[in-house]
Amino acid sequence: MKIAVVGATGMVGAVMFKVLEERGFDKHEILAVASKRSVGKKIAFAGRELEVIDLDMALAAKPDLALFSAGGDTSLEWAPRFAEQGTYVVDNSSAWRMDPSKKLVVPEINGEQLEAEDRIIANPNCSTIQLVMVLAPLHQKYQINRVVISTYQSITGTGMKAVQQLENEKNGLEGEMAYPYPIHENALPHCDVFLENGYTKEEMKLTNETKKILGDEKVDVTATAVRIPVKGGHSESVNIEFENEFQISDLKKLIADTEGVRLQDNIEVNLYPMPRYAEHKDDVFVGRVRRDLSRVNCVNLWIVADNLRKGAATNTVQIAEKLIEKGFLPKA
Ligand code: A2P
Repeated sequence: MKIAVVGATGMVGAVMFKVLEERGFDKHEILAVASKRSVGKKIAFAGRELEVIDLDMALAAKPDLALFSAGGDTSLEWAPRFAEQGTYVVDNSSAWRMDPSKKLVVPEINGEQLEAEDRIIANPNCSTIQLVMVLAPLHQKYQINRVVISTYQSITGTGMKAVQQLENEKNGLEGEMAYPYPIHENALPHCDVFLENGYTKEEMKLTNETKKILGDEKVDVTATAVRIPVKGGHSESVNIEFENEFQISDLKKLIADTEGVRLQDNIEVNLYPMPRYAEHKDDVFVGRVRRDLSRVNCVNLWIVADNLRKGAATNTVQIAEKLIEKGFLPKA
């Protein structure tokens, strides 16, 4: 199989190569693809060196699979061109997520819905993936009416420029700004752009993508998304209102038994998830699970995951694995 990694020189691209190697994809032919600016650059992958090519060259190579993490505009323009010639495109941008003709996939939740004709498959937003990994089993058992969420999001979600901004500020250097304000020693209630309704695009992604992945428009979601000067992952404070009654012990057991989710919850020994410890891991970590004492059938919890792993690269590669498992792509 021939696999194109589009956005090979970016933050997600770098993790994509790691995940591909870890999960045995190094036996396939891998194309490293970025903008024309980067053509000829060398990228280390699985003990070999890949030379970066541009999208024209990648298209001409007719890959079986293309993993896109190069921004919405690149996806809008190029994903259909690859798909038309038969390439399966898994896209990390927001370009196709809410398109009713495209599936928005977290393999553990709705991977079974993938069909051979799905040539452009959308990978959800990072903060949505870690949220729905926990919501999906809870919704199935207790029926969720409403979710109130505040995020504490890593700068890595913005890309290289943001990581550089934080480094510059820590070192007292002038440089290009990814954000409208300093991020060092700061918290910005502003992730992605503002919309006419007063929310940010990131906040509306949490609302709309969650409904689409859970396949239930009746789940109300309201969000505040905040960027903080952290690298390891996104954290989320989540309040959930259920239709049905629950026991905290049952709810914790359900979380602990969910594939891809790990319960880290023991306040007696200060055990709770933190981005520093979620970094480089594929699991979604959940802690601080406690009944909301102010309302019936409500719970508060804290969800942390590495946004570049399960929030992006790992989920993308898991979608590819699902396509292989279903026989749409060859095994070796
Ligand atoms: P390049 O390095 O050549 O600009 P990040 O968001 O972490 O900065 O990464 C963005 C990724 O998307 C990079 O690999 C970048 O390549 C790639 N990219 C951006 N614009 C384009 C484009 N027009 N065509 C192909 N790749 C692009």
